[in-house]
Amino acid sequence: MFPVRYVITALLLFCVIPIQAQDRPWGDALKGSGSYDDFEKPERCASCHKDFARQYEQAMMSQAYTHSWDEIEYFKLAVPHSQKDPKFKDAQEGCNGCHAPLAYIAGDVPPPKPFTGSRADESVSCDVCHTITGSGAEPPVNYSFTIEPGRTKLGNRDGLESPHHNTKKHDFTVSTELCGSCHNEKNPFDVWVKSTQLEWKEGPYSKDGVRCQDCHMPGAKGRNSIMSKEYDDVAQHMFTGAHSPARLAGTVELAVHPDVRAVVPGEQLKISVVCYNHKAGHKIPSGSVEERQLWLTVKVHDSQGKEYHLPVDRKGFEGEDYTISSNELAFQDMGYMLDEPDFKGLPRDALPYEGDRVFRMAYFDPQDRMTIAQWNTARLGVDYRIGPREAKIETYTWKLPADLPLGRVRIVAEMQYRRLIKSVGDYLGVPEEETKAEFINRAESWFEAVDY
Ligand code: HEC
Ligand code: HEC
Ligand code: HEC
Ligand code: HEC
Ligand code: HEC
Repeated sequence: MFPVRYVITALLLFCVIPIQAQDRPWGDALKGSGSYDDFEKPERCASCHKDFARQYEQAMMSQAYTHSWDEIEYFKLAVPHSQKDPKFKDAQEGCNGCHAPLAYIAGDVPPPKPFTGSRADESVSCDVCHTITGSGAEPPVNYSFTIEPGRTKLGNRDGLESPHHNTKKHDFTVSTELCGSCHNEKNPFDVWVKSTQLEWKEGPYSKDGVRCQDCHMPGAKGRNSIMSKEYDDVAQHMFTGAHSPARLAGTVELAVHPDVRAVVPGEQLKISVVCYNHKAGHKIPSGSVEERQLWLTVKVHDSQGKEYHLPVDRKGFEGEDYTISSNELAFQDMGYMLDEPDFKGLPRDALPYEGDRVFRMAYFDPQDRMTIAQWNTARLGVDYRIGPREAKIETYTWKLPADLPLGRVRIVAEMQYRRLIKSVGDYLGVPEEETKAEFINRAESWFEAVDY
């Protein structure tokens, strides 16, 4: 009998255990694969890693579940939609794979509402990122990370000593694939509704070896815990993005110029604006592209101070209508989700002017209407965002009014950004800060109105 037991034990040791280690759950298989207690609370880490904890509290990822607009979109739109239409159940539960990974792993979906004391509130916590071991999918997508919470925290340095845990330098932790496992997303229609890491990968920064971490977690001289020595390059846990006015400002550089310096009233001129994304490692906007607007307004001010708004010249590419601001009705799919059969839709762009260029990629529902519900997106419109280190030129042809006063005419080009389309935010009761216009850049030039 003994040898048989011995053989079974040997089989378990040499076959079963290694296979389990390779076949760690990832993606949808993470659901219910563990419990909340597997993870340490961020307050525990904060007792020694004080600075990172204070920085990270301000980053959106630490509020990925509790942030008010996330709560509204999840509980007012996604959850009721999946109850009416069960084909969206996995997608609805899957929101938590990225926004509330602890709840997803614990199988607690939908999680209790934010701020009701559940650990879903911890969102993307320290212990999540620092125990992720790899990705089951290539390219990484839809919470495809494998994760082994426990004593070993994975980091970016070798041979460190901590009284609380083991540490290990890990290739995956310092890779962009870590980020891509949540920053790339495919929906139930097999549409790539988020592709920040893929945009980065095909862009110039990946070729130069500039990772997500290098821009979003810059190195600074200092300590990484209250007990460590000083390093020259401690990875600051800032993660600023679309919620940081300072990070947005200046991302796109502008230059504006008229094609001639002197024009007779009644004749026309052409104004060009160069828009250069010199600061983002991916397209702008990236990520939640369905909600974001990046738009360019061009105005001229005559010598008496009267202001004229100029609509952008059309280039004539397919799908261009969706890249020029308009207030036609859109987002009709929200009526079904909200159980409001008389819902007619909301103004599509709700921007101060119609006719402005909007750098965006529109998302369309199965009935081909524009949608902000990424899970309900059956196709993507034309991609007119600005790629990393890409410059786009917009032109404005203006026929001067015959009675334009002579003298110097100022040209002002201004680019702004909205996280969430204002008509949608206002309708759903989202706090105004989400729909506030943020300054990106501004440029000025001039020409003379002359009498020949
Ligand atoms: C009792 C204090 C203490 C607690 C609690 C603690 N750590 Fe640490 N941790 C340290 C020390 C000390 C180091 C080693 C720092 C050094 O020497 O550079 C360290 C190192 C690390 C590293 C490795 C850094 C690198 O550069 O590779 C990571 C990652 C880490 N901790 C994450 C965490 C997380 C996540 C938590 C909470 C789950 C946590 N720590 C809780 C003290 C602590
Ligand atoms: C979104 C993922 C993510 C979260 C959340 C996160 N970290 Fe990190 N952390 C990283 C990455 C990635 C690195 C390595 C940075 C690099 O490669 O430049 C890192 C580095 C570290 C280091 C070592 C820094 C150094 O340069 O020596 C410590 C310590 C650490 N993190 C602790 C924490 C603590 C504590 C929290 C929670 C307050 C936390 N991390 C939250 C991704 C994360
Ligand atoms: C476990 C999933 C997960 C991982 C891993 C992850 N993120 Fe995120 N990240 C999110 C979610 C969810 C949000 C959206 C937060 C919200 O609700 O606004 C987000 C938001 C962000 C933002 C936007 C902040 C803003 O102001 O709008 C930045 C920047 C960011 N992450 C950078 C990173 C980087 C860099 C990495 C890799 C080192 C990373 N993330 C890894 C899930 C993740
Ligand atoms: C060269 C620096 C740089 C690199 C590399 C970089 N980013 Fe960014 N990121 C920015 C800037 C600047 C912004 C603000 C402008 C914007 O929103 O696109 C930003 C914004 C973001 C946002 C908010 C996007 C939005 O429009 O809502 C997310 C999410 C993000 N970054 C994640 C990442 C991830 C993940 C990677 C790696 C795959 C990465 N970033 C690489 C500079 C960088
Ligand atoms: C694959 C990971 C992933 C899944 C699945 C996912 N999200 Fe997100 N979500 C993110 C990331 C990453 C961001 C931040 C992107 C950015 O900053 O542009 C985000 C941003 C958001 C935002 C916007 C917050 C803001 O910054 O304005 C809302 C709302 C949101 N998600 C709701 C949902 C809902 C509802 C679902 C499920 C139907 C869902 N998400 C599924 C990763 C995910």
